[in-house]
Amino acid sequence: MIGRLNHVAIAVKDIKTASAVYEKTLGAVVTAPVAQPEHGVTVVFINLPNTKIELLEPLGAGSPITKFLEKNADGGIHHVCYEVDDILAARDQLKAGGARVLGDGNPKIGAHGKPVLFLHPKDFCGTLVELEQV
Ligand code: CO
Repeated sequence: MIGRLNHVAIAVKDIKTASAVYEKTLGAVVTAPVAQPEHGVTVVFINLPNTKIELLEPLGAGSPITKFLEKNADGGIHHVCYEVDDILAARDQLKAGGARVLGDGNPKIGAHGKPVLFLHPKDFCGTLVELEQV
């Protein structure tokens, strides 16, 4: 069902400091920060030859990554995103198998303008999984 790894998202407290680590220390090209108030995060993208890294900084009071950063003070891998061809078919198949889909179960438009869903980490080896229809 799942296809390519679309991105790995890393939650950070300070996106400027984190961007500098990727730009100066690791020699990557990092985009300018983009505020995504509807997702409660500010994001930069790092395009690697085979995938992307996204750095996420909390934005606003109800940011979904605030709790994660309380537990992971240095930041950390927040989720992995796999590509699927048909997100509704993937969702229905996963739900039929007992997996929990977060939120109201309906895809939302994600950071790349494509439909996404998140799956409960307890059902996926302790890792929050995002599915993105490509
Ligand atoms: Co993501």
